[in-house]
Amino acid sequence: MGGQHEPQPHQGAAAISAQAGEFSWRLSAHGPSRLAAAAQAAVNGLHALVVELRPSGDEFRQAIDFLTEVGHYADARRQEWVLLADVLGVSSLIEDQNSPRPAGATPNTLAGPFYRADVPETEAGGNISRDLRGEPLEVTGRIVALDGTGVGDATVEVWHANAEGLYENQEPDRQPEFNLRGRLRTDAQGHFRFQTVKPKGYALPSDGPVGQLMSALGLGLERPAHIHFKVSAPGFETLTTHIFDRSDPAIGQDAIFGVKPELMADFRASPLSGGRRRHTLDLKLVMCPNRPREGGRAGRARMPRPHGGPVR
Ligand SMILES: [Fe+2]
Repeated sequence: MGGQHEPQPHQGAAAISAQAGEFSWRLSAHGPSRLAAAAQAAVNGLHALVVELRPSGDEFRQAIDFLTEVGHYADARRQEWVLLADVLGVSSLIEDQNSPRPAGATPNTLAGPFYRADVPETEAGGNISRDLRGEPLEVTGRIVALDGTGVGDATVEVWHANAEGLYENQEPDRQPEFNLRGRLRTDAQGHFRFQTVKPKGYALPSDGPVGQLMSALGLGLERPAHIHFKVSAPGFETLTTHIFDRSDPAIGQDAIFGVKPELMADFRASPLSGGRRRHTLDLKLVMCPNRPREGGRAGRARMPRPHGGPVR
């Protein structure tokens, strides 16, 4: 240290801690970068937390042990770090920031880990339940633009858990391949229709450190029953979303913060017939036209932003 870059007392005065101020000063010797902005924001946030909570040495070690355990649980098949980000609402917030939609358009949400892109096409009205286990559900829907006109020839990909809350790729030995997955096309007016079975909600994995944390906090890991959709059409931003069963008891406590008022729908039950209840669901999904992004580029912004504002 020395010469032209001596620390100035006022630089640390506005910082959350002397160490955060000095960290900022050290970074400033290297010019701005996205990484430096992220490191500074992380230091500011962590120091604010330490100043607020004043953790003991034991508590600090417990926090380190927790993070170490999260790392031990993360591997190619299970991502405990993503699970942690999900239950803290971080994944959902990032999705909201990266996929803003104008008023009136259906909100975008996380695709989740169970999506498959290789699903064969489903004929209009076809049944995507390949084992017919569960209560029958008929889904009808329409894809529309912001002005309400139908979007013809849109591709509607759909996937959901079975009546026990499990996806086909979670139990490949028990469910037929592509069970409860479909790929439909809308007609000229934007309509689509398929048969399936009513999905059940499910819980996120509870056997790892994230599950233990949520249990200690008294918070649940449940996700209310839902159907995932990914809708794509030329001229429109691809819409990835879920539609949730409004009557599910967990509707107000989705563990990954995916539920929004526009995404709740009524799965209507008809009286029992032949020992089985039937359900219907009617939907309208509103797509947003392609828009120029900040800086005139499509896709996610990658350049540093001056004050750490949201990336849109
Ligand atoms: Fe899901």
